[in-house]
Amino acid sequence: MAKAPSCLSLFILGFALFTVCKASEEIGIYELQTGYFSVNITNYGATVLSVIVPDRNGKLDDIVLGFGSIDGYKNDSTYFGALVGRVANRIGGAQFTLKGKVYKLPANDHGNTLHGGYKGFSDVIWTVKEHVKDSHLTLTYDSHDGEQGFPGEVSVTVTYLLIGENKFGIKMEAKSLTKPTPINLASHTYWNLGGHNSGNILSHIIQLQASRITPVDDKLIPTGEISPVRGTAYDFLEPRTIGSKFNELPEGYDINYVLDRTGSGIHFTKVASVWDEKSGRKLEMRTDQPGVQFYTSNMLKDTVGKGGFVYKKCAGFCLETQGFPDSVNHRNFPSQIVNPGQSYRHVMVYRFTAI
Ligand SMILES: *[C@@H]1O[C@H](CO)[C@@H](O)[C@H](O)[C@H]1NC(C)=O
Ligand SMILES: *[C@@H]1O[C@H](CO)[C@@H](O)[C@H](O)[C@H]1NC(C)=O
Repeated sequence: MAKAPSCLSLFILGFALFTVCKASEEIGIYELQTGYFSVNITNYGATVLSVIVPDRNGKLDDIVLGFGSIDGYKNDSTYFGALVGRVANRIGGAQFTLKGKVYKLPANDHGNTLHGGYKGFSDVIWTVKEHVKDSHLTLTYDSHDGEQGFPGEVSVTVTYLLIGENKFGIKMEAKSLTKPTPINLASHTYWNLGGHNSGNILSHIIQLQASRITPVDDKLIPTGEISPVRGTAYDFLEPRTIGSKFNELPEGYDINYVLDRTGSGIHFTKVASVWDEKSGRKLEMRTDQPGVQFYTSNMLKDTVGKGGFVYKKCAGFCLETQGFPDSVNHRNFPSQIVNPGQSYRHVMVYRFTAI
């Protein structure tokens, strides 16, 4: 789709007196669709607005939480569907040191930095590079040196793609152009396989391919430890319902799992399988990233969403594949520093079936 600047010209007697163009990119909604499978995305925050898939009886439902209009995404603390960065997740103390220099960042979450600061990649307008309805949407964003406190220019490309009639892939690439800088992107979609407006996800069954977590303090900053989950409320190695150990963990889950390397090769690790016995919908995920943040939307509280539906605590779950939180402050975590001339890459694939 062509990206024309929106301009208004004043003509008098056939002469253009002046033309006013909006400096900003236009915000649009872009649909990807094959068969009954469809996904809508906006270039505001590179946000996934809807994902429609059939249940076991062929009934179509939108299974991602979101707002009724793009404006809802502009004053939002949920990050519904957004592409978060430059550094997704938390950075402790809202600062880090790189090559002897201290970088101070916006403290937008209890003295820490969350999802790239007050105006991260989830709150900027991305440029639409390519849109082929039955195939893919490619969005780009150029982040300047010092943006939200981060060093160096970064050029980001995100491609959302449909693969066949039931797979949805997200390919993220970011080039560091001028200075070493941390990069960690994540897709922050909230899922409810029963339909976005079907209530809570506590009866969904999940299996997480992860034997370890990175434990956190009371502000959700990693302590630096890497602990086994076996036998704890975090253990989803065998499938069980999301809510089955909420008595031990009443606040719900908001934790980074260290993914076990599975399958063939190092590139695509199995992340999780989640299914809803009522609708029969099942989601399976794979990625090339080392971690996944499992979040059970504990902080949702009467958020008015699509169709006026009110999302309460645990209305959805997020599985945000990414590097480990606060990696810039933990030498034992995989590094997120990307040097000039190098690229960051992140691929994730969702597969939807009905059982
Ligand atoms: C997706 O976007 C298309 C094109 O803008 C629109 O016709 C359709 O209603 C949207 N679907 C949903 C579920 O919002
Ligand atoms: C933005 O959201 C905050 C609460 O999260 C609210 O207090 C404020 O009024 C909202 N602003 C607008 C312009 O909607």
